[in-house]
Amino acid sequence: MTRIPFNKPGVIGREIEYVQEAIARMHISGDGHFTKRVNSMLEEILAAPKVLLTTSCTHALEMAALLLNLKSGDEFIVPSFTFVSTANAFVLRGARPVFADIRPDTLNLDESRLEPLIGSRTRAIVVVHYAGVGCEMEQILRVAAHHGLPVIEDNAHGLMGLYRGTFLGKFGCLSTLSFHETKNFSCGEGGALVSGGEGQRVRIGRAMSRQNVRLAILDEAFRGLDRNLRHKLLARCRKQWIQATLLCVTHDVKSSLDFDQVLVVDAGTVVESGAPGILASSPDSCYARLLEASTTLETAVENCAAWSKYWVENGKIKSLRNRS
Ligand SMILES: Cc1ncc(COP(=O)(O)O)c(C=O)c1O
Repeated sequence: MTRIPFNKPGVIGREIEYVQEAIARMHISGDGHFTKRVNSMLEEILAAPKVLLTTSCTHALEMAALLLNLKSGDEFIVPSFTFVSTANAFVLRGARPVFADIRPDTLNLDESRLEPLIGSRTRAIVVVHYAGVGCEMEQILRVAAHHGLPVIEDNAHGLMGLYRGTFLGKFGCLSTLSFHETKNFSCGEGGALVSGGEGQRVRIGRAMSRQNVRLAILDEAFRGLDRNLRHKLLARCRKQWIQATLLCVTHDVKSSLDFDQVLVVDAGTVVESGAPGILASSPDSCYARLLEASTTLETAVENCAAWSKYWVENGKIKSLRNRS
């Protein structure tokens, strides 16, 4: 009888060389040369803001549960067919799994059965791309966004797998990878936590649907958008969170003019604090100098021949020269 092995670890032949190099560098615990290389390699390939190598996918899932602040009384939705860690990581925080049936064709969570499982205690949706086959993320994300729920992707099997042209692990707010011996890319044991597939603006949108918010922190919100649009969106947030304390961390000095109070931070220390109107009118204040410097810089950039500003308006590319 032929024995069919459960798996054959992918060994490419350079492993011993790398182990020797790690020993020669005298750093064989975590966060060494190779950890940093793999973190940045994955960040580059997946275009993820942050990747953190972990000792296993199980640990990455446990970190995800901690980051979501899941606790007793919370529920999370998870496919009924997966490895035990997908559920256990969240159960360890006291949360209750609500099992979703899977599809017979892909063995992934059945997106058509997801919504009825969501209740007032649901705090997260955890999906698994079983055997590297992508879940129906479009529908899952639509349901999750409708209910303001974060999606975690257990992507233990799916590094480099694609769903409609996008890497698996890029859809949720967090995703996890496994480098266990049985996986496509293996290092014996290992894993990773991948963050930030979901855009900051999506998170702000979801946060805005929450009731009774007491404190909202916007850290460099709407970065990358046109200044006017940024100011408009910030004004909307201020209106939405009028009852809450709103902390806004920004490099766009002018956007702070409408706030009740500003704190100027220099090298990690608060060097000035007060009402923006008062600070702006006292020429010696750091705040007034920052305002002046930002206006000078904007004017210089807009008038500099070496810079061109382009944007899309009504489907057409515009520049400062053809704005009319
Ligand atoms: C879907 C899934 N999630 C998580 C894990 C846990 O991975 P690790 O062994 O790296 O902790 C596995 C392992 O088989 C898995 O198949």
